[in-house]
Amino acid sequence: MKNITVIGAGTMGNGIAHVFAMNGYQVALADVSREALDKGLATIEKNLARMVAKEKISQESQDATLQRIRTFTDTAQAVREAELVVEAATENVGLKLKIFQQMDQHAPDSAILATNTSSISITKIAAATRRPSQVIGMHFMNPVPVMKLVEVIRGYATSDETAARIMSLSENLGKIPVEVNDYPGFISNRILMPMINEAIYALFEGVAGVEEIDTVMKLGMAHPMGPLQLADFIGLDVCLSILHVLYSGFGNPKYAPCPLLVNMATAGKLGVKSGEGFYSYGHGSKELIVADTFK
Ligand code: CAA
Repeated sequence: MKNITVIGAGTMGNGIAHVFAMNGYQVALADVSREALDKGLATIEKNLARMVAKEKISQESQDATLQRIRTFTDTAQAVREAELVVEAATENVGLKLKIFQQMDQHAPDSAILATNTSSISITKIAAATRRPSQVIGMHFMNPVPVMKLVEVIRGYATSDETAARIMSLSENLGKIPVEVNDYPGFISNRILMPMINEAIYALFEGVAGVEEIDTVMKLGMAHPMGPLQLADFIGLDVCLSILHVLYSGFGNPKYAPCPLLVNMATAGKLGVKSGEGFYSYGHGSKELIVADTFK
């Protein structure tokens, strides 16, 4: 494969485009507006410059990577020559089904259609296309240029050939792919989200404060971020929506989201992206400051 299309230039989409382009693939990056594309490209440039400053790549490699990325505001045009399309749009079922129908209509018949969804059923997305055997989950982790894992999710109809091609392509990106089956939350979020939810319950019940909970997990379990900081990083709205998928998918009350998470998401306290979650952000320093509500 040489030609890859990435749909969505947000946090995940620009990271995915960055990694493909840096590994020599021609990337068509699509989003609905020129502003979204410019913002995505600026992030890629900033992250590449950081790698140059740390002498992980050369200046020439940064320039060549950026030259391999073309941008589009029209999905049909962006997928026309794709051998693989990776969809990384907003986590909304209706939107994803619509994008997959468009991709199916305009991408070459031989193209594989992948989604970076963190929890929506691959089988359901595949059923919206005429090529379910060529639909697969390719779940990158944030920050994409840093995290080694690609969770490769096989839908009910995904063929062995599609899975094998995506496993080997992920290795070509310098990642470590792990193949899993399509059940709610896959493996990553089936395990991660109950941990985050339990940390929020512990805070809600007054067992310990924000910093104490995160410190236990960072120093006691060697997690790079505590669960509350990680929830802020992922986005509390995203955590809530994944817990809903687990809760409704398994019908088991153990996945019921903590009322504090529900309240925070409803109040727009979404973590890093809104400026406040369990911690407050936007004060211009890397220091972790607990949000006033939890002091
Ligand atoms: N692009 C490129 N490089 C980046 C980067 C980015 N966006 N962000 C950080 N880096 C690099 C830095 O340059 C640095 O490189 P060196 O080690 O060579 O110096 C390295 O990553 C570490 O960065 P920092 O020193 O700035 O900060 P840190 O040590 O606190 O690490 C972190 C930052 C990598 C994000 C780390 O805190 C971490 O691993 N956190 C947990 C991340 C995680 O769990 N992600 C998964 C979230 S779940 C998900 O994505 C899926 C889902 O479905 C919800």
